[in-house]
Amino acid sequence: MARRRPLVGGGSSRSCWGWWLRWAGIGLALVAAFLLGALTRVWVPGVPSSALMHAYGASDPTKTVRAQGLDICTQQQQHQQQPTCSAPRPLFTISHPKSGRTWLRCLVSHAFACLNKYNDTLSLADIEMYSGNVLDFSHGEPHHPFSSTPWDLAYAFAEERPHNREHGVLLVRDPRDVIVSSYYERRYREHVRWIPPWTSLSQYITWHKGSLRTLLMFLNLWSAVVEKPGWTVLRYEDMRRCPHQTLRHIVNERLCLGVSEECIQAAVRWCDFGSLQKRAEEAGTSGGAKIFSPASKGNPNSRKVRKGKVGGYRDDLSEADIEYMEQTIQKHLVSARIFGYGTPPTITTED
Ligand SMILES: *[C@@H]1O[C@H](CO)[C@@H](O)[C@H](O)[C@H]1NC(C)=O
Repeated sequence: MARRRPLVGGGSSRSCWGWWLRWAGIGLALVAAFLLGALTRVWVPGVPSSALMHAYGASDPTKTVRAQGLDICTQQQQHQQQPTCSAPRPLFTISHPKSGRTWLRCLVSHAFACLNKYNDTLSLADIEMYSGNVLDFSHGEPHHPFSSTPWDLAYAFAEERPHNREHGVLLVRDPRDVIVSSYYERRYREHVRWIPPWTSLSQYITWHKGSLRTLLMFLNLWSAVVEKPGWTVLRYEDMRRCPHQTLRHIVNERLCLGVSEECIQAAVRWCDFGSLQKRAEEAGTSGGAKIFSPASKGNPNSRKVRKGKVGGYRDDLSEADIEYMEQTIQKHLVSARIFGYGTPPTITTED
């Protein structure tokens, strides 16, 4: 006690009290900070709780879809859309992890490089850098290690301020495929592995935090943007079917970059799934392309460019898992009408 005396001054009993008071003070401050944090997470400005429960825009069938992109594969035949080009570059782009943004990145970065005549030296390592000239990518934190329940996601959503954003791109993919892909990503590739190594895929899909339920909330929340004519909503499945139209739409109709048809064709060729996967397989574990290299050689599930197959989830899940997933989607995916993910995808023969 004698040693502590100079800190608090006074006699030995008073110094003891001072010590306790100090720690009680620190404790109270921590509790207050925690409560304050919790409160700011619950009262999200601009996101009323009813909206969270019913999915913006998707719950009311009378609201019209004004975003572009959902008809990307039929657009050309149906109507000639006048390019508006008022969107700022890089254009804000949101997607849940594992929804195919690497591929979109590849397409736009090659198109941009080609436009500026340095496509011949483009490497995997450049993809991230060049794509940033065209699209500004965000995930909105659905895998945040401490706070990624469906409810927490609303907070991240509000922070992204979709209401104030007149322009953007939303990239979505069938949640059945996303969830399987996200399991492998988090199990084998994530830099800090927040999911325990003994977690099975079947356990993972039942989690509320950072898994299927959160993903469905993500789709519900972001479905809000379909009411905005300045947004492009792309389904990964359409992007696979119609990569040329997708790329043309983004670089020429949305951003008016004036990319030539040769460059569009070359970009789609360069980003062809098979060749992209091959180049990723050969990527070194150091240098700019290391994010593409497989986490462990010989484990195909540890690849960055893993499968990309539509409906591929059926290879990895049991009947019971699929049943659980379908029920969860029926119950929680309020925005199914918008994205068309209410029913399982038809099996494709590609890949
Ligand atoms: C670069 O772009 C040109 C078209 O301008 C194309 O012919 C060529 O194949 C492209 N190179 C690569 C590596 O994609």
